[in-house]
Amino acid sequence: MGRSTLIAAAAKQMRMYSARPATRDTTGHPKVTIQTIKKLYAEQKPIAMMTAYDYPTSVACDRAGIDMVLVGDSLAMVALGHDDTSQITMDEMIHHSKAVARGLRSPFLVTDLPFGAYQSDERTAVENAIRMVKEGRAEAVKLEAGRRAASRIDAIVNGAGIPVVGHIGLTPQTAVALGGFRVQGKSLASAQSLVDDALALQESGCFAMVLEAMPSLVAETITRLLRVPTIGIGAGSATSGQVLVLSDMVGLFDRFTPKFCQSFGDLGPRMAEAVEAYKKDVRKGSFPVEGVHTYAMPTAAEDRWRAYVQQQFGFELGGLKQEGAVASTVQV
Ligand code: KIV
Repeated sequence: MGRSTLIAAAAKQMRMYSARPATRDTTGHPKVTIQTIKKLYAEQKPIAMMTAYDYPTSVACDRAGIDMVLVGDSLAMVALGHDDTSQITMDEMIHHSKAVARGLRSPFLVTDLPFGAYQSDERTAVENAIRMVKEGRAEAVKLEAGRRAASRIDAIVNGAGIPVVGHIGLTPQTAVALGGFRVQGKSLASAQSLVDDALALQESGCFAMVLEAMPSLVAETITRLLRVPTIGIGAGSATSGQVLVLSDMVGLFDRFTPKFCQSFGDLGPRMAEAVEAYKKDVRKGSFPVEGVHTYAMPTAAEDRWRAYVQQQFGFELGGLKQEGAVASTVQV
């Protein structure tokens, strides 16, 4: 057997025994680095960021050529069903960040530090940021905080050398203190406070900043004052980029959809339809279809097995439903 035949045989074996395909379509998108983000910003090309929570959502972002993927702690709500984001732990965030990292080749991966991971002191903040990079495979961390977290951001960026994305405006981790999930910066004082936060975070070393739920004019002001890109969510069109929660924009979160979210798909109902069709087929006995979704024994072994069962257990095997069985399919 020639070398190329041996390689082909080995590849076939791998495909047979691997739970995942031996190869996956590569997108051809080059790896996004901080330099790429700086270049997009300098060229005033809007940066596309998207959240992902697990392997399939990360593969979707990778294939789409998203610039930055965020493992947002919104996963506490949209993937784990909590009422808010305050309960999610470092271990849970790391678990999801690792899964997302496995699906990404090109996008730049940012993972949220959860509530409690950076509020108390600089040492804790640095230790948790290091864990997110070492264990969670994040390339940068995001912190939801204004100027009160400046010293911790400085310690992570300049002490540990880990890039940080800031997050100001509506900060869901501290929604209770904000009086709920409310738009920020609607009054002059509140808008000024957001500008102060943005400038302080830039000063402490953030290389980008998420602006969430604030009037477009305030987001535009901040974007024009900063030397680093702003990524808006509910912050209008003047920011340097946009981010949305994937589950919101594809209809996979059933509880509410924020006003600022546009629907780009309706996968939730379609997933339910597919599950319902499966349930019906199971009940009717039309799934699985023998010969289509099933494994057979080699004929000689089958004959011997039938005889063995007859002799050993006293019944005759058969009744495999081949005829008339039609697989139903739902396009999802
Ligand atoms: O947790 C998250 O998904 C976020 C985005 C809303 C920016 O922080």
